Amino acid sequence: MNHWEDFLVPYKQAVEELKVKFKGMRSQFILENNHSPIEFVTGRVKPVASILDKATKKEISLDCLAEEMQDIAGLRMMCQFVDDIEVVVELMRQRSDFRIIEERDYIANKKPSGYRSYHVVIEYPVETIQGTEKLLVEIQIRTLAMNFWATIEHSMNYKYQGGFPEAINTRLKRAAEAAYQLDEEMRQIREEVRDAQVFFSKNKDVIKAQNTVHHEIPKQ
Ligand code: GTP
Ligand code: MG
Repeated sequence: MNHWEDFLVPYKQAVEELKVKFKGMRSQFILENNHSPIEFVTGRVKPVASILDKATKKEISLDCLAEEMQDIAGLRMMCQFVDDIEVVVELMRQRSDFRIIEERDYIANKKPSGYRSYHVVIEYPVETIQGTEKLLVEIQIRTLAMNFWATIEHSMNYKYQGGFPEAINTRLKRAAEAAYQLDEEMRQIREEVRDAQVFFSKNKDVIKAQNTVHHEIPKQ
């Protein structure tokens, strides 16, 4: 096993474990017929090339990666509504299996780019055969609209390295505003949407049962 593989093994484990835990939170809400503040969860370990790239840009010595690069392990939780984000963060604050060490609120204070998200950095203990290893993990919590914008902007950034042509810059700013408006509109009809979703999930099983009766496969 090479040095990088060795270094990244516990980070991979942390990402996998946290994905299971956050997806489990979603399942629990659904099982109890409640609106889930978590719509879906993704996670990744930063590729080695990106780690090296960022270390060079931020002048982080490779010996200090574990302490100074907070997003080697990263998770994202997508929410339907802006208000769900606070619910998720509060649930995280209550947990005893990790410790929150930093919160960055780019929703109250959006970035100049137009980026909005809530970032939480946690210290997460991973059990290894050498003992407990505490790692930093960055968790980004955002609405589906925020995620749509950030995903598009990220790809554009990749293509133009941040130096957007003026026309694209204008479009991205307008798209950020549109994403914000979408979140606001959804906030206004949130209760309606939630009721409909709970009604739908309660009735799904009934409808499924009815359909099974009507579409029974004829015996050969
Ligand atoms: P980094 O050097 O990127 O870690 O900056 P930082 O330490 O100030 O952390 P920050 O809270 O800005 O979070 C960085 C992460 O947030 C990035 O890796 C992206 O995933 C996301 N992010 C921050 N700003 C933007 C942005 O303008 N556009 C997009 N698409 N993503 C962003
Ligand atoms: Mg960072």
